[in-house]
Amino acid sequence: MKKVFLPLLMVSVLAFIPYVGVHYAGLGYLFGVVLPYLAMAVLLGGFLFRMVDWLRRPVPFCIPTTCGQEKSLDWIQQDKLESPSSFLYAAARVLTEVLFFRSLFRNTKAKMHKGPTLAYGSSKWLWLGGLGFHWSLLVIVLRHSRFFLVMVPDSLQLLDEADRFFDITLPAFYLTDALVLATVTFLVLRRLRDSKMQVISLPADFFPLFLIIAIIIAGISMRYVTKVDVMPVKALMLNLVNFGFEPPGEIGTLFYVHLFLVCMLAIYFPFSKLMHSGAIFLSPTRNQCNNSRAKRHSNPWNSAIKFRTYSEYEDDYREKMKKAKLPVDKQ
Ligand code: HEM
Repeated sequence: MKKVFLPLLMVSVLAFIPYVGVHYAGLGYLFGVVLPYLAMAVLLGGFLFRMVDWLRRPVPFCIPTTCGQEKSLDWIQQDKLESPSSFLYAAARVLTEVLFFRSLFRNTKAKMHKGPTLAYGSSKWLWLGGLGFHWSLLVIVLRHSRFFLVMVPDSLQLLDEADRFFDITLPAFYLTDALVLATVTFLVLRRLRDSKMQVISLPADFFPLFLIIAIIIAGISMRYVTKVDVMPVKALMLNLVNFGFEPPGEIGTLFYVHLFLVCMLAIYFPFSKLMHSGAIFLSPTRNQCNNSRAKRHSNPWNSAIKFRTYSEYEDDYREKMKKAKLPVDKQ
């Protein structure tokens, strides 16, 4: 199981670096100021570069994945979302994919039964786990805005309060902390327990999962166990978002582990499968309209076709055609 242990070892080593760097070598400035700037520059530059690179690629064919009746005769009802014929519905389709993982909802599993008979069944767990994981991560990241903004908007305040609905610990327990841990554990176990998944999984599948787990564990430990003082954290982040270079105040080492792992995630992001977050918007199977009968999709790879119309042909051969008693359009 080298492909599991290698990423696990890498994440453990990464978590150890800031611990030694800050606790023993006093490199708080490097880990608290220099590295976050560097990581943000790589994330933004890398993300933009990859998106522009994809945007510039030609789209040779009209290949939307469709699942419903396409627009045809007026008296046949079109499925506007499954088989969009306009930009608006294609955009709505992409959006429902991004927000609700629509196509993953139809995920099926194939199983051999006695006979032998191959049977396909519904498989919703991955959809549910994936959705829970992404939504809870989003809520956690949105909640973190309290470290970056002087005044937190009411909407984010409300989100924070809703997440603290089960007010059973001190500090208040966040529902998304439990949800993200449960779902990310499910996503790792899914790859480990299923023999087919084990074969197709790569270290690049485990590494981001382990990295995210480490970030979450460091965050949760900070909040519920070591109870980090958030005031110097907020001061540092406000300094960074205002492009300042003030040294960080007195913050526990665990915070630097959390921040360093987030920086590693940011640097890794543009070069990894995590780019699916941007790529989904550019996927031709999702963002194209299914209107190939109404509109010609020209392939940008095709060289320009030199063609001759019938009237040009007739102009050239009219006299010969008349002599051969062939019918002509113009006399
Ligand atoms: C991918 C990005 C990040 C993820 C997934 C993440 C995740 C988490 C989680 C799960 C917690 C536990 C408590 C909670 O849910 O609020 C937490 C706490 C915390 N995180 Fe993050 N974090 C991220 C980025 C950051 C960044 C950039 C900072 C820098 C300010 C940060 C600072 C903190 C602090 C100070 C806490 C303790 C909060 C408290 O005591 O209330 N995190 N983080």
